[in-house]
Amino acid sequence: MKKIFQILIIVCGGLLMNSCYYDELQEKIIPELPTDPDDPDYVEILFGTDIQPIFTASCIGCHNASRNPDLREGYAYSSLVPEYVIANDAASSRLYNKLAGGHQNLATDKITLIKTWINQGAKNN
Ligand code: HEC
Repeated sequence: MKKIFQILIIVCGGLLMNSCYYDELQEKIIPELPTDPDDPDYVEILFGTDIQPIFTASCIGCHNASRNPDLREGYAYSSLVPEYVIANDAASSRLYNKLAGGHQNLATDKITLIKTWINQGAKNN
């Protein structure tokens, strides 16, 4: 009987120690391009030519009239700003956080463009 308790204690102890190990939900580290116009490397990211094509290629199959945000050309900007995008604050923007969290596995360089566009003021440019 004693032996059974001993085994139980060892097994439970083992489980307890193991439960201390967990995979942290690691957000991807997303680089950012310069957002200060005085930076010599500053390049303005344009919604029309840099951002919309990402949505058109990767998102509008699902995000159209039937799912928010509507990312079709002509609808995307007003669907996103201000509900999903807070100008100059990618870290607080649902669009950015969703993508940085791995939604649809969008490539990091594309998330970088979206992050930079938001932190450059999220203009309809
Ligand atoms: C295969 C379908 C599919 C594709 C492609 C897709 N999404 Fe989504 N998306 C969803 C679904 C379903 C949800 C709602 C469930 C969830 O939040 O994950 C969602 C949720 C979201 C949300 C949060 C909506 C809210 O109201 O909180 C955002 C932002 C978003 N998607 C952006 C995008 C962007 C940007 C792309 C393209 C890079 C994209 N999605 C591609 C299916 C898709």
